[in-house]
Amino acid sequence: MPASAHRARRRPRGAAPLLAAGAAILFATGLGPAQAGAPPAYLDPRAETDRRVEDLMARMSLEDKLGQMVQIERAAADPAAVAEHRLGSVLSAGGSGPEPNTPEAWADMYDAYQRAALDTPLGIPILYGVDAVHGHNNVHGATIFPHNIGLGAAGDPELVRRVAEATAVEVAATGIDWNFAPCVCVVRDDRWGRSYESFGETPALPSAMTTAVDGYQGARLGGGAASVMATAKHYLGDGATEDGTDRGDVRVDEEELRAVHLPPFREAVRRGVASVMVSYSSWNGVKAHADRYLITDVLKGELGFDGVVVSDFDGVGRISGGRDFTAEELTTAVNAGMDMVMLSKGHDRFVTDLAGEVAAGRVPVARIDDAVRRILTAKVDMGLFEAPFARRDLLPEVGGEEHRALAREAAAASQVLLKNDGGLLPLAPGGGPLLVAGKNADDIGNQSGGWTITWQGGSGDITEGTSILEGIRAAAPDTEVVYDRHAEDTDGPYRAAVAVVGETPYAEGYGDRPEGVVLDEEDTATLTRLAESGLPLVVVVVSGRPVDVADHIGAWDALVAAWLPGSEGAGVADVLFGAVPPTGRLPVSWPRSAEQQPVNEGDGQSPLFAPGFGLTY
Ligand code: BGC
Repeated sequence: MPASAHRARRRPRGAAPLLAAGAAILFATGLGPAQAGAPPAYLDPRAETDRRVEDLMARMSLEDKLGQMVQIERAAADPAAVAEHRLGSVLSAGGSGPEPNTPEAWADMYDAYQRAALDTPLGIPILYGVDAVHGHNNVHGATIFPHNIGLGAAGDPELVRRVAEATAVEVAATGIDWNFAPCVCVVRDDRWGRSYESFGETPALPSAMTTAVDGYQGARLGGGAASVMATAKHYLGDGATEDGTDRGDVRVDEEELRAVHLPPFREAVRRGVASVMVSYSSWNGVKAHADRYLITDVLKGELGFDGVVVSDFDGVGRISGGRDFTAEELTTAVNAGMDMVMLSKGHDRFVTDLAGEVAAGRVPVARIDDAVRRILTAKVDMGLFEAPFARRDLLPEVGGEEHRALAREAAAASQVLLKNDGGLLPLAPGGGPLLVAGKNADDIGNQSGGWTITWQGGSGDITEGTSILEGIRAAAPDTEVVYDRHAEDTDGPYRAAVAVVGETPYAEGYGDRPEGVVLDEEDTATLTRLAESGLPLVVVVVSGRPVDVADHIGAWDALVAAWLPGSEGAGVADVLFGAVPPTGRLPVSWPRSAEQQPVNEGDGQSPLFAPGFGLTY
């Protein structure tokens, strides 16, 4: 089915107060159509999308159009600046949000931008974007779902759709219209700091999980109870950089690029994804942001993508090194097919520089028109001209019980049981005391990972939720559960020990581990003490990817890969105590040792556990 078949031909929904306001402004400024009383076609919700967009474009100056192509970080442009330059979009980069960090404050912030944008001669609403990559994760108190690697382990496309749908509700409650998710990267080297943003190492898993697009957008953009624009990212090959270096170079031939990395994008486009974000990485030395072949010929041409191609954050400025963009870089990116440029600053210079490039004939006006047409089409399809403000009626659902129950279900479904000697698991809810140890046992921040409240995430009580320890206590109310982080005192009538160890939060390149992913000193010490105690030992690894356990696993009776389960640690306990049987399967190869990376299905290597592996009871 061609992508365009998915695009909404919207019918009006609900009242349209803006129509009157916008038309009044237009008529007052003389910019509206001549016929008194007739609203301009672009404000007419009964008109076809294309007609509305063409009508609006006919009223726009070149500067109006160039402004639409900017997506500016909120810290660099307040509502007045966005209105002054008629900017098309605003974003909150990881951790960038209002103070206090409450859902209501987010809605207020969003509405302030939207009001300013509407209060301009043409009254074009903005699109506001965030990375709600595992729930509305910048917002304190929002539900935090497992990161994609865990959802890939769960292997259930319908679960992913439901998780995305719940996320869209929380996002829309705060007004936000655009989500920079799902990441449909195919991770080929787990040393990469973004491995946990991937659903898996083979194209089949990320392709199947593009049901997230349906969850975020609804049956069509603007349809459904809440609908936010989805973004398939990062185009193309971000998970295959040399040595797993974030933003690095992908050295594969076109056949492999197409076979391994293109399928999830093809599937996302088939589902009508409204935007695609370009990758910081390069393909055989050419920056994706400058790659006209990949963006225009393959994505827009061959795949028929008719939505918005957005750059990564200052990705255009990084084409030739630094971070600040030059006019030449703008020309390269826009001519390559970039429709919107995500910027940390410099929106005013963007407009003047690109206007200069157009005047000099280096960027065709037709290319600008194509970009703006795509952006305005999304705005019309979203219903933003009719319903531009935050969906405050949905605010009670942010972090609400129903969504937390879903996050718990998703966490349980993502657990992968890798070893279970002697049937130590499931633990009986009743019986002798249990010793719980490990730095990740009682830490909402660690179990949530990066992209939680802040870009990098953090340890401790950074948001609301249930730690794994709290989940264990609730699952075994009649059992004495002793938490001893470092397992300093293992003498006691314990029937077993549960060690919850693994990684601490990171995001993007900060998580690159060129030397391999290994247990840290604290974990090793804790695990050694537990092994020496002789207690039956369950090890739960909370991490964004496989960790090298080769030297230790022999001393453990049971091993569970918990990934980054999110705010609902009770889901992990559900599996430990058998309320939910483990059904997760490895979405990636679990290497025999840190040195074995990269290791992927079909490469002739023999990992410790192959993709698809997972025990149950
Ligand atoms: C990341 C993107 C993200 C963007 C906006 C970049 O650093 O690569 O995945 O969408 O920031 O926060």
